Amino acid sequence: MKDVSIDSSSPDSGGGGSGSGPVPSDILVRAGLCGLAYRPSHLAQREIDENTSAVVKYLMAEPDAEEFRTLAALRRKGWESSDGDKAFQEQRKRADNLSKDISEFNYKLMGKIAEELHTNTGAFQMPPRPCSVLDLCAAPGGFLNHAMRINPGCGAVGFSLNPKDGGYPNLLSPFRRRCMKFLDVTMLAEDMMGATDIPADHPDADKFLPRQIGEVDRFDLVLCDGHILRTQDRSSGAGDKNNATSDDKNGTTDDDKIDATSDSKNYRELYEIYRLKYVQLALGLEHLKPGGTMVILLHKVEMWTTLCTLRRLSRFSEQVRLHKPRVSHTTRSSFYLVATGVDSAHPEAVAAVAKWKAV
Ligand SMILES: C[S@@+](CC[C@H](N)C(=O)[O-])C[C@H]1O[C@@H](n2cnc3c(N)ncnc32)[C@H](O)[C@@H]1O
Repeated sequence: MKDVSIDSSSPDSGGGGSGSGPVPSDILVRAGLCGLAYRPSHLAQREIDENTSAVVKYLMAEPDAEEFRTLAALRRKGWESSDGDKAFQEQRKRADNLSKDISEFNYKLMGKIAEELHTNTGAFQMPPRPCSVLDLCAAPGGFLNHAMRINPGCGAVGFSLNPKDGGYPNLLSPFRRRCMKFLDVTMLAEDMMGATDIPADHPDADKFLPRQIGEVDRFDLVLCDGHILRTQDRSSGAGDKNNATSDDKNGTTDDDKIDATSDSKNYRELYEIYRLKYVQLALGLEHLKPGGTMVILLHKVEMWTTLCTLRRLSRFSEQVRLHKPRVSHTTRSSFYLVATGVDSAHPEAVAAVAKWKAV
């Protein structure tokens, strides 16, 4: 592949940057990555789009990438179809209004995804006791349950957004459920930055949290499966949570889409996708035992920020594999990355944590 200019705004890139220039959105539209109405909302997004466009241009012309062109054509069809719109609207409605039945269905589904991931990659197998798992966005708990089931007696810590703030309920069995704590991981100020002294005039001053993971705590397996929720009220100013996914298409989640939020939104609406992604990556890697495993939910493998994450992790992992579950995620761009033998003490890993924390 031709050298693509490195995006300085991407926390996974090595620096440099192509800076300004017109947004080559036509190629993104052709690849089915966005609709005609798409406009990047800020400079960083424009740079990401430019670099994604270079990748997509390469793939569209590459003789061996027939599969990518077929997928692009299908995605374009999705953007044009009103039936698709309706189906995905229904899907979103179900996701936003979780009944007890839907929650239980989701819990079982997450268990099936974990099983499939494990069968294909062995991701959930930890070394003999004492061993432990950290799940940064754990509810309803299918992944954690699977990890605890196949590693009897392992330690487990899970965080997840409180249902009263729009998060999912904890459906772990009574004797396992105590390992899960409800909190907003994007508010872990002390864990992320050592910050204990939040300026009183910060719009979210009362929401930031003290340390939750012991400084020296290390885990064998780290799960990063969070995606931002439309139901979470992130307003600290003028945000409008209902617009967060207004241009979603093709079953994409907030993380999937190329950010189309507007500059008038508060900082959480504008950057929440990145805040949630990088807090999981930074704390997950920082608290991973050397040689441990990370399972990470990602979207759109051809997107520049996703590629940068893959490249960065591959620098200090024995193996990085991608798995697209068959039991779910089939009409979405989401997939799982499984990194094994991750040398979390490697200088590049330490640098990655610092970079992700600085986002
Ligand atoms: C796909 S679900 C995770 C499913 C989980 N892996 C399982 O096995 O059941 C995504 C989770 O991310 C959580 N989440 C979203 N934003 C969050 C935040 N800011 N802090 C903590 N959890 C968050 C949601 O509440 C939800 O539980």
